[in-house]
Amino acid sequence: MTDNLVELEIEDLAFDGKSVGHIDGKVTFVNGGLPGEIILAEITRSKPRYNQARLHRIIRVSDIRVPARCEHFAYCGGCTWQDLSYEQQLIFKRKQVVDCIERIGGMEAVRVNPCIPSQDQFFYRNKMEFSFHVENGEEFSLGLHERGHFDRIFDLNRCHLQSDLSNRLVHWLRDYVRANGIPVYDVRAHEGFMRFFVIRQTKRTNQTMLNIVTNYGNLPDQERFMTSLLGACPEVTTVIHNQNGSKSNIATGEIETVIYGPGYIEERLFDSTFRIRANSFFQTNSLQAEVLYRTGFEVLKPTTSDRVLDLYCGTGTIGLLVAPKVEQVVGVELVSSAIRSAAENAELNGVTNIAFYEANVVDFLRAVPKELQQFSAYVLDPPRAGLHPKAVKKIIELGPERILYISCNPATFARDAKDLVAAGYTLPEVTPVDMFPHTMHIEAVGLFSRG
Ligand SMILES: C[S@@+](CC[C@H](N)C(=O)[O-])C[C@H]1O[C@@H](n2cnc3c(N)ncnc32)[C@H](O)[C@@H]1O
Repeated sequence: MTDNLVELEIEDLAFDGKSVGHIDGKVTFVNGGLPGEIILAEITRSKPRYNQARLHRIIRVSDIRVPARCEHFAYCGGCTWQDLSYEQQLIFKRKQVVDCIERIGGMEAVRVNPCIPSQDQFFYRNKMEFSFHVENGEEFSLGLHERGHFDRIFDLNRCHLQSDLSNRLVHWLRDYVRANGIPVYDVRAHEGFMRFFVIRQTKRTNQTMLNIVTNYGNLPDQERFMTSLLGACPEVTTVIHNQNGSKSNIATGEIETVIYGPGYIEERLFDSTFRIRANSFFQTNSLQAEVLYRTGFEVLKPTTSDRVLDLYCGTGTIGLLVAPKVEQVVGVELVSSAIRSAAENAELNGVTNIAFYEANVVDFLRAVPKELQQFSAYVLDPPRAGLHPKAVKKIIELGPERILYISCNPATFARDAKDLVAAGYTLPEVTPVDMFPHTMHIEAVGLFSRG
């Protein structure tokens, strides 16, 4: 026992998933512990305005606690809330949205609806990225990041977020690399070969794409590799090899080779087909992507006279789904491969009233071509950073009647909403949609209207 051990009653959960209580009036953050619980905690850092603490033991267990399913839960960086009942996760996620809208947005009159639950609570992801890791020539690992450690990877046995085929594939590749003595990339020494293993699986069409990311060079004995892979996991439909020789530790490559199958998978959302390539953005919870988009379309209420500007359009999913209901759609996206996929998806689905522009949203809005200025509705689906202040300014100047904002970060959504409301838009309600059970992430959908 140390002098720093104190009893702490957990009152709330913070945005980053940490638990929050007070010690002598000072706010204290701790990993583990759920609201209503009393824990024994060790203060590890004491700052003038807050403490950080480590959980030693739970003294009083809350009835919102459930047993975590995953054997890796105690240390995996993937799931933060597997030990919190799903109903309570939804309550805390909604509260996070309310807090942002009130505190950051300064708006009290916006109704925040109950959080729409994910259809699947486990095995819901269609994409997982696994990392190889080796240090000082020791035994390598293949798996996921340890919580709070960007540079530590633990050997995964079974993850509950993707399918069991995905788990089998991780075991197969680890065994294959080990048995064949293929060197694993050491991020400190910048040598070795195997770097990442990305698995993408469609939910509706049963297709599986593997993306093997390595240092420069060919995959050794590719034919034997494929024979062994298909013998163990015949469900795999395509395999891609990406070579990344840069020091940046990201699972994309500079040289991409299709080594098996068509080089893409095709997922179905509603009645449309979306072709997904190794580096294409696609919502990672396919079934819930439909729920997210439907929630947006229900408030947008598209009509045949609408002209829709889909900003941050990625591979064009939202624009392509809304196109049959409106006169015209224009999508804008920064990443050229995403724009190529968007155009490919338009052709695949026979959508002809849509055009895509490769551009930074700010630049596009600064010089919207004259013939494109009469948009009645904008769709905004930016990354976590939200809208650039210059984009907000231009959107207000251009003044569309309706703006559908789909956000993956309630804090930046609330910040941008404040500006739009100050400029005369109304925001009656926001609906949180859960795409990522057991994590603190939440999507928020809101429609801004003018006049
Ligand atoms: C959350 S994703 C949305 C994708 C799409 N709406 C969907 O549902 O599949 C955000 C997209 O914004 C793009 N992006 C990020 N910053 C951008 C910018 N400044 N201008 C244009 N696109 C940007 C990213 O490349 C990414 O495809």
